[in-house]
Amino acid sequence: MSKPEKLLDKKGLRLDGRKLDELRPIKMEVGILANADGSAYLEQGRNKVLAAVYGPKEVHPKHLALPDRAILRCRYHMAPFSVEERKSPAPSRREIELSKVIRDALEPAVFLEYYPRTSIDIFIEILQADGGTRCAGITTAALALADAGIPMRDLVVACAAGKADGKLILDLMDLEDKYGEADVPLAMMPGINAVTLLQMDGSLTLEEFEKAIEMAMEGCRKIYEVQKEALKAKYVTVKEETEE
Ligand code: CDP
Repeated sequence: MSKPEKLLDKKGLRLDGRKLDELRPIKMEVGILANADGSAYLEQGRNKVLAAVYGPKEVHPKHLALPDRAILRCRYHMAPFSVEERKSPAPSRREIELSKVIRDALEPAVFLEYYPRTSIDIFIEILQADGGTRCAGITTAALALADAGIPMRDLVVACAAGKADGKLILDLMDLEDKYGEADVPLAMMPGINAVTLLQMDGSLTLEEFEKAIEMAMEGCRKIYEVQKEALKAKYVTVKEETEE
């Protein structure tokens, strides 16, 4: 997409009609893949993300196993058709980096010490990308981990805030990410108020940075409610099926 003249209109609304502090429409579903131990699907604006979890299971290769805890592995991958210009299916440097960043954002939530000598593997597939896919990937993967029944301190949820046309904005889409002044992705465990990822691209004053963090945390808290509803919805379905 070419560079738009402005990212905000005269009324201060964004290109998709959102207010500055408004999230994209978001929906999630848990337990959608029959052959994974846990899975989840998320749509956030035009982002479409699928996450699958396997484990805890025996580690291959075996020498990677740790005597006192499980290892957590993560692969973030963009489908070739997920972006405007066909992406090579081979892992890019960006995907390798994001896989690590996402793993590190999720690890503090998982009780790895419960499962020594095992691995927990997370696969995140970006089916359609429109900015903020590392955050959407974290939110989806946390749900898939919970769906796999892996004990966690809390769900992890992520959201970005940033700046476009001089104003702070929440939950950046691709155009705002590309042509805006800054992007601050943040992941947290809202139930215990712990931040597990904080990055920044672009520049902000200290005051703006603090405000952006507060906005991103507020976005996370809203998405957290949707996450919990998605988990509950699965168990309502399971309950109905068992009662039939
Ligand atoms: O997705 P996120 O904002 O976490 O990561 P990014 O590296 O800041 O990428 C921003 C956006 O650029 C992605 O969400 C995609 O929409 C787009 N992108 C793309 O069009 N082609 C790529 N090969 C990689 C990213």
